[in-house]
Amino acid sequence: MFSPQGPIGVFDSGYGGLTVLKEMAARLPQYDYIYLGDNARAPYGTRSFETVYHYTLQCVQWLFQSGCPLVVLACNTASAKALRTIQQFDLPKIAPDNRVLGVIRPTTEVVGNFTRTGKVGVLATKGTVLSDSYPIEIAKFFPEIAVFQQACPLWVPLIENNEHERPGADYFVKEYMDSLLAQAGDIDTVLLACTHYPLLKTKIEQLLPAGTTLIAQGEIVAVSLADYLQRHPEMESRCSKTGQLRFFTTDSAEDFDSHASIFYGKALISEHIVLS
Ligand code: DGL
Repeated sequence: MFSPQGPIGVFDSGYGGLTVLKEMAARLPQYDYIYLGDNARAPYGTRSFETVYHYTLQCVQWLFQSGCPLVVLACNTASAKALRTIQQFDLPKIAPDNRVLGVIRPTTEVVGNFTRTGKVGVLATKGTVLSDSYPIEIAKFFPEIAVFQQACPLWVPLIENNEHERPGADYFVKEYMDSLLAQAGDIDTVLLACTHYPLLKTKIEQLLPAGTTLIAQGEIVAVSLADYLQRHPEMESRCSKTGQLRFFTTDSAEDFDSHASIFYGKALISEHIVLS
């Protein structure tokens, strides 16, 4: 049956997914993309499984209704708490030919290539840490790796409110970094397992022992998407290719536009939507 083409949907609770979309659009500029930030309900990181699942499903359905055949959850918290249920339970009922991908699996597939000591630190939201998704997924690909997790519940609010560059933020960056590094002496790879955290990269790097590798997900997810599209020509052929990007937010478009460039690297214009 003929399926119309549509943009690739990219979803995050707020602005963080823009750090992933930036890399996708750089690597795969031929495709069209729709970004949806659920800023009105961010942060997701401290919310319950049921709430994150319900909000994420609503956003995925909106992206499907907007014509996206493929949606990437560019949010670790949503990938950890909602992706599997959506893939296994909802998709077969609401859109059996569409696909939803997350950011955890592509990251865990490659994380073992960076570590020499076999000790990997994971910085993430409380929801992602409590889900244990990273230790579980890393064990599938690299069973010899020990994973040390640190929840950083105050980082997303600091970043969403553009307070992360102020000296006051240093205290909370150091507090969580100290807790992570105290868990094992020879962590040599640290994963920014929240798509907001690349904005703290410089501050975090200053606190890492020399020789530690700090990994952000954007490029990894973009490479993985390119690979997925190559392996799935039936989905690739359903992705429209005019190189256009549109941005949507559930909160004020004006606010979104004034904050978004620090995540996306350049100015953009968004549109407000109401989810019903
Ligand atoms: N950026 C998201 C993540 O990767 C979630 C941040 C939040 O809403 O708490 O986990």
